[in-house]
Amino acid sequence: MKVLEINNLSKSFDKDGPAVDNVSLTVEQGEFFALVGESGCGKTTLLRLAAGFEDPDGGSIDINGSTVAQKGNNLKPEKRKVGMVFQDYALFPHYTVGENIAFGISNESAAYKKQRVGEVLEMVGLQGFEKRYSHNLSGGQQQRVALARALAPKPKLILLDEPFSDLDGLLKDQLREEMRNIIQRANATALFVTHDMRDALSSADRIAIMRNGSIVQTGTPRELYDNPKDSYVANFFGKINTFNVRVEGGCFRLSTGCIEDVNNYGDGEYMVGIRPENVEILSTCADQCFRATVKLAQYFGDHQQVYADVGEARDLVIHAHEKVLFKEGDPICLNFDPNKVHVFEK
Ligand SMILES: Nc1ncnc2c1ncn2[C@@H]1O[C@H](COP(=O)(O)OP(=O)(O)OP(=O)(O)O)[C@@H](O)[C@H]1O
Ligand SMILES: [Mg+2]
Repeated sequence: MKVLEINNLSKSFDKDGPAVDNVSLTVEQGEFFALVGESGCGKTTLLRLAAGFEDPDGGSIDINGSTVAQKGNNLKPEKRKVGMVFQDYALFPHYTVGENIAFGISNESAAYKKQRVGEVLEMVGLQGFEKRYSHNLSGGQQQRVALARALAPKPKLILLDEPFSDLDGLLKDQLREEMRNIIQRANATALFVTHDMRDALSSADRIAIMRNGSIVQTGTPRELYDNPKDSYVANFFGKINTFNVRVEGGCFRLSTGCIEDVNNYGDGEYMVGIRPENVEILSTCADQCFRATVKLAQYFGDHQQVYADVGEARDLVIHAHEKVLFKEGDPICLNFDPNKVHVFEK
């Protein structure tokens, strides 16, 4: 079932062009869905439109099968059954944790509020924190209170804007996993914004990547990592070497060699991308390979990072796992798994 369905949504603030530009997106029941993209690409605006803090210029938003936004007909945020966790948590510092959480369920009886506050605090692992003030809590604890507040009205959809951006290292990884579990146990669906590709790759069921207000590609983490639609998507999810090659006579050619065009792209000029871990350094040069020269080799224990010029393609990065240590000036031969080579439109 579709919990969130966005169709051709647009929003402009000024003459700079649209912040959200004709976006269509669906989030299915139970998904942990990540929205990624560089700063200013429109992620927060899209979330705010879904939550009802902004009204769209065009397009529509459906939540649980009913239309909540359409030009001239926008439901108020509190009527959308959506929970939102903001980047800065937006807790009221002069309220206790309990009062902060009860804020979202103001229409209920005092007894129900007390019970629900206890329930959601237990869900986020903060039993007994009702009377504490939010300014006395750690970043991770504030984060959980913000999540508890969003969960209190039993929303079907939770929107999280950069919920982990203040945290790092192990705490961030743990909290991200915990949040995912808590949201799933609450039977909710989540759309979360992050600009950290590790967050998205490691925890999302699906990812949509935005650029200049539009969605460039949507897919599972593996689909986006292994089959990026263009070099923007490829670069967002980690280092990728991109360079131009000529396909001629069934071969990808550089001036220093050729590799068979097994996928039959056909003759022409192409831009290709290959990730550092997918370049193989051969011990002996075969017919099908590119000759290269090491410019710099760095030893990192579990791998060596080798920079090499391969004919016209400069500064290729290779993650090598060979026992032998490479050094500047070493002649090497490289092979690319043709199925790991991405071919982009130039
Ligand atoms: N209230 C507003 N008034 C005017 N312009 C705005 C407003 N909110 C956002 N914008 C503009 O819309 C564009 C998208 O902003 P948005 O906050 O959605 O980006 P973002 O992807 O969340 O970026 P970040 O990763 O930095 O948080 C930006 O150019 C921003 O300056
Ligand atoms: Mg933002």
